[in-house]
Amino acid sequence: MDLDYSQLLCFDPDFKLVYEQDNRFLYLDSNNANWFRTNNTGQIILEYFKEGSKSVKSFSKEFSAIYPYSEDTALNVFTKFFLDAIKNGILINPAKGKSISEYPLYKYPAMIWLHLLGECNLKCSYCYSESGPKNNFHLEKEDIISFLSKIPQDFRKDLVISGGEPMLYKDIVTICKDLFELGFKITLITNGTVRHDLYVEIVDYIETIQISFDGSNKEIHDRLRGTGNFEKTIKGLHMAQKIGFKGIVVSFVPTKLNYKDLPNLPTLLEKCEVSAIHISELFYSGRATHGDDELHVEYEEMKGVIDTFISEVTKINRNIEYYRRLHKPKATEFQIRQYLQVSMPETYGRSPWNMNAKTKYRVKNIDCGLGRGTISINYDGSIYPCSKLHFKELSLGNINDEITEILIESEKLARLASVDDADSECYNCNVKYFCSGGCVATGYSRGCTDLKLKNPCCNILKNSIFRDMLTL
Ligand SMILES: C[S@@+](CC[C@H](N)C(=O)[O-])C[C@H]1O[C@@H](n2cnc3c(N)ncnc32)[C@H](O)[C@@H]1O
Ligand code: SF4
Ligand code: SF4
Repeated sequence: MDLDYSQLLCFDPDFKLVYEQDNRFLYLDSNNANWFRTNNTGQIILEYFKEGSKSVKSFSKEFSAIYPYSEDTALNVFTKFFLDAIKNGILINPAKGKSISEYPLYKYPAMIWLHLLGECNLKCSYCYSESGPKNNFHLEKEDIISFLSKIPQDFRKDLVISGGEPMLYKDIVTICKDLFELGFKITLITNGTVRHDLYVEIVDYIETIQISFDGSNKEIHDRLRGTGNFEKTIKGLHMAQKIGFKGIVVSFVPTKLNYKDLPNLPTLLEKCEVSAIHISELFYSGRATHGDDELHVEYEEMKGVIDTFISEVTKINRNIEYYRRLHKPKATEFQIRQYLQVSMPETYGRSPWNMNAKTKYRVKNIDCGLGRGTISINYDGSIYPCSKLHFKELSLGNINDEITEILIESEKLARLASVDDADSECYNCNVKYFCSGGCVATGYSRGCTDLKLKNPCCNILKNSIFRDMLTL
């Protein structure tokens, strides 16, 4: 965008200064889900434009009269600031007014979880889906296809195949093929221990294979997943690498029994062409609710470990950067292509090394996706708003219902949980469209089942939004 120096601009009064720290200023336009950060100099410029409609040229003239800059230098130095301020809507053309951003409303869920079966060769103590060798529930392939093919072609987006252990599903190859042909982008989540021979048959239909690790060595991984399973999972990972899946992701659920091992994971995975580590919060549902508190660990306890983990990831990514810049010919294709990405629960109040705040908080949101963005189909055919919310009272219906009926129920739930509902505790919060009330499953997991109440991690969420906006 070119900057027109004589164009009149004014400060948008919807922006309020909400946070100030160490010569950094954060402005929010809460209703329009927009924000802008600046420093002392930017603050001087904004104050000037708060007085009324002025041009960049007139600002430069006045600035050069006070400070030791020529008008031209001032124009050059501040061009980027003005372009940013206009792009983010804090300075607007008074003749045109501002553009209002809308919520991205989903017609159909953009993410569908499919728990194909309850059977699993393992019986992890924390499994939300209560899977195991004796769980015989499973979905019929025909029912799945009949239900999902009623979603219009243009709305078939991400689909996660889970279970139980999906590699044990009798029709795993054909269901992957059929869903791929319907147009879904498939992530398959596996414990990585079984049916490695089938990887070659599904590889063309799968966008990402996600393999669950609960430790970087057999002592720790097997503590949660059973003796002998670390070796098998490593074999599965190597096989996935050899077969050449487009994306290979590893997931880790921190509990009291394994969280200290997390910083060892990046080095283990460095040579395995893993593109991301996905850390999931432990949710208290299914078998995770049966035991005592032996698994529970508060974030405060994990903080130092998470810091070390992030610095390990950063080291690996710096190496990749180094290879890219200096030794391009020596680097493998993978090193040139991929940084190791990290995702972690918002309740950690942390942002991984490469997160950009403008990317993270760029659209207006009124819910975490519950009831609108996702649905989760359980292996018994019941449908829930999220894979971490398989609770009877939140059931949306069944796989034999029409998708339109499910969507009507979803919408009712979405309204109940929305920060835009006048009865919601979040209704008057100035960051509600950035936070969207946080993850409902986090609240549920902590015993907060009233969807009108604010998230039990509200303070963490709010502080991390302000911190990200000021620093990332
Ligand atoms: C239910 S498993 C099914 C797929 C496969 N059997 C596996 O373990 O990867 C899907 C993912 O959910 C995670 N998971 C299971 N129970 C959980 C819980 N209570 N809280 C958070 N994640 C959980 C597992 O670690 C796994 O990554
Ligand atoms: S977490 Fe996965 S591997 Fe473990 S019991 Fe549940 S379904 Fe099986
Ligand atoms: S959880 Fe807290 S920060 Fe988030 S929208 Fe609700 S009140 Fe605001």
